[in-house]
Amino acid sequence: MSDADLNMCSRIMKVITELEKQSVLERSGVAEVSHEDSMLAITSDTGKFFSILLSAMNAKKILEVGTSVGYSTLWFVYSFYHDKEDPSMSKVKITTIENNPLKIKRATANFKNAGVSGLIEIIEGNAIEILNQLSNYVNENPDDQSQYFDFIFLDADKENLHEYFDLAISIVKKGGLIVTDNVLYPEEYRPTMSKYIEHIRKKNFVQSVTVPIGHGEEVSMKIR
Ligand SMILES: C[S@@+](CC[C@H](N)C(=O)[O-])C[C@H]1O[C@@H](n2cnc3c(N)ncnc32)[C@H](O)[C@@H]1O
Repeated sequence: MSDADLNMCSRIMKVITELEKQSVLERSGVAEVSHEDSMLAITSDTGKFFSILLSAMNAKKILEVGTSVGYSTLWFVYSFYHDKEDPSMSKVKITTIENNPLKIKRATANFKNAGVSGLIEIIEGNAIEILNQLSNYVNENPDDQSQYFDFIFLDADKENLHEYFDLAISIVKKGGLIVTDNVLYPEEYRPTMSKYIEHIRKKNFVQSVTVPIGHGEEVSMKIR
C-alpha cells in the first residue's frame, strides 16, 4: 500500500471511529435521539466484514439503499484503498440512496471530512423510484456492462424489501452480491425478515446464506 493510500485509510478510519462513538451512545440510550435523527448504523464488526468481502471481491461499483449519515458507506469506500490494482480510483464508485435531507447533509459533511466525496454519489429520493430508474436503464441497455453493480446493500425501510430485492437482482452482476441488513435484529423485524428470506430462497438463480454478524446479514449471490 502506498503512503498516500495509508494516509487515506487513516483519514477515513478517523471519521468512522467518531461516528462509531455516536452510534454506541445512541444504541445504549445514553444519547437521546429521535428515530428520525438516529444513525441506525451497522455494527463495526459488520463494517469490517463488508470491507474484507469487498476487497476480496475487488468490488468497484457499489449501490447502497439507505445512507443515513454515511457510516456503512465509509466502510465500503475504505475497502477501495486495499485495491492495489487501481490506485488511481478511476473506476470505483459508490452510489447511495437516501430520502431524508438532514441525513444527506450529515453524510455529505462526513464524506468531505474523510476526503472521499469524489468517490460517492448520493441520490436523494425514494428508494423504490430510484431502483426502478436504474433497472429500467439496464433493461433498455443490457449490453452496457458499466451499469451493473458488484455489490448492493439493502438497508432502508423493511416494508418494500421484496421489491427492492427483485429490482436489485436485475442490476447486480452475475457473481455479484446483494446483502440485506437486520435479518436477525431487532427481534421485532423477525417475522418480516423470515418472509423476505423465504422470498429470496425460492429463486433458483440465487444462492443465499444468513451470516450471524451484527444485526444479521443475508448475503445473496446472483449465480445466473
Ligand atoms: C438503517 S438506516 C441506514 C444506515 C446506514 N446504512 C448505516 O449502516 O450507516 C436507514 C436509512 O434509510 C432511509 N430510508 C428509509 N426509507 C427510505 C426510502 N423509502 N427511500 C430512501 N431512503 C429511505 C432512512 O431515512 C434511514 O436514514
